[in-house]
Amino acid sequence: MNLIKESPAWNALVGHHQHMRNLHMRDLFGQDAERADKFTLGACGITLDYSKNRITDGTMELLYALARDADLAGWIGRLFDGEHINITEDRAVFHMALRHQGETPMRVDGQDVMPLVRGVLDRVAAFSQAVREGRWRGYTGKAITDVVNIGIGGSNLGPLMVCNALKPYHDGPAVHFVSNVDATHLAETVRELDPETTLFVVASKTFTTQETLTNATSARRWLLERLGGDPAAVAKHFVAVSTAPDKVGEFGIDTANMFEFWDWVGGRYSLWSAIGLPIVLAIGMDGFQRLLRGAWEMDTHFQQAPLAQNLPVTIALLGVWYVNFFAAESTAVLPYDQYLQYLPDYLQQADMESNGKGMTRDGIHVTYDTGPVVWGSPGTDGQHAYYQLLHQGTRLVPCDFILPLRSHNPMADHHPKLVANCLAQSEALMRGRNEDEARDMLVRSGMDEAMARALAPQSVFEGNRPSNTLLVNQVTPETLGSLIALYEHKIFVQGVIWGLNSFDQPGVELGKRLASDILGDFERKMPSPEHDSSTAQLIRRYLEHQFLTHLDQD
Ligand code: F6P
Repeated sequence: MNLIKESPAWNALVGHHQHMRNLHMRDLFGQDAERADKFTLGACGITLDYSKNRITDGTMELLYALARDADLAGWIGRLFDGEHINITEDRAVFHMALRHQGETPMRVDGQDVMPLVRGVLDRVAAFSQAVREGRWRGYTGKAITDVVNIGIGGSNLGPLMVCNALKPYHDGPAVHFVSNVDATHLAETVRELDPETTLFVVASKTFTTQETLTNATSARRWLLERLGGDPAAVAKHFVAVSTAPDKVGEFGIDTANMFEFWDWVGGRYSLWSAIGLPIVLAIGMDGFQRLLRGAWEMDTHFQQAPLAQNLPVTIALLGVWYVNFFAAESTAVLPYDQYLQYLPDYLQQADMESNGKGMTRDGIHVTYDTGPVVWGSPGTDGQHAYYQLLHQGTRLVPCDFILPLRSHNPMADHHPKLVANCLAQSEALMRGRNEDEARDMLVRSGMDEAMARALAPQSVFEGNRPSNTLLVNQVTPETLGSLIALYEHKIFVQGVIWGLNSFDQPGVELGKRLASDILGDFERKMPSPEHDSSTAQLIRRYLEHQFLTHLDQD
């Protein structure tokens, strides 16, 4: 199969870019009073204003043609039909079944998976309710007050992000998250906790992940040391979420206390499965169902809306436009909502683990850029850190501003100020400020004419910097579900355009293997000859330090 770069639409976009690179959005807005209306879409409680992009009608037509050249409709069909589109792992990609509503079947390999999905949801609901109502008790008979999720990657970031985003809905035990194998993460988390009232959720799709098993082992030791050492205590304080019951059993967690999911759920797409257990414990099953419903509504929109009205498709194609035609290397996610503080981290894994790849699913090295670096943090903090570069730096960084119109904390005039800042940033990025405007501003601020003329160039903003603004009324379980699913499908669409398998992560494996080799070196107390001289030297320094520490202790 040919690379997308050889498609007619791509070639047309190359020519079109030559024209577009010289146009300024300020002029495009000036020429068309309808521009904002024309380039605004809405679905599932989300309004997407994409008018502050370097586009015309012609650009969008060509981008939608690119999607057609990549057979996007065919790939959406294959995704929802449960085909094994994750070819390297020979698996379906079917997280949409986890939030499917209604009675229609969702089949993988001929089997309707909905009874399995609903069965586990029922068990999650019953267990969570027992914990939340104080009927599930710890080893010493006390109700659970704190839940610690131990997992990493997709088994951490999804529930962590959602639990934070939905804090206004929390009415269950406090939830905590431990992911890093650095013992500090676990030690600082459990420091204030009471073992008698703490429940650990060990979340790992494979149940082989070194960080998670190390943390879970230490958490078990912490618990047993404080509860008298009876192994029976583990059953009251540890549950597991996994696709691997045998490994859960080997670890010592009763599989009766395990919540299952399936290999057709990718780790970074798993928050909708039993991996969402901490969410259910925190907000209850009704809230979780609202989250699922929001995601399902976006699934339906993605499947059914024509390309030009389709939010995930449109936002994905705009991303492709900048990555491949404007050489943008990164994209910023800027939620103007403190509750969404972990959304950029979550999207980092979702996007970069999915599309951070250089080979197509047909085994051809790409000759174009693929997934960008995804980064960001909540507004307005970023404004006082890195926005300088967004405005006047030499790199083009397309931004997604995410703005709830209503705050969960309507305190004094905080929210209008937050909103004003968000809108001001996207306007400034788009408009910029020319030299005349800069000089006038300096004169108005009291500077004399000559000085103002001399300093004005420093205050010039070229503008023409693209952004999307995504509005929601408020961050609710429904809108959050829709928002996450929007980004999931965006990532899928970009993977289709670039010809990638977005659902494996072979790049993570090499580091994992080398870490385990180096652990072997630590045991043998010398670096193996396979290492380069730098790594060998660093291993030796660590071993020397260990040796000296031991001497000191003796
Ligand atoms: O980081 C690699 C990865 O395989 C992710 O894809 C996954 O989410 C994470 O590790 C955790 O894996 P598991 O849930 O199997 O512990």
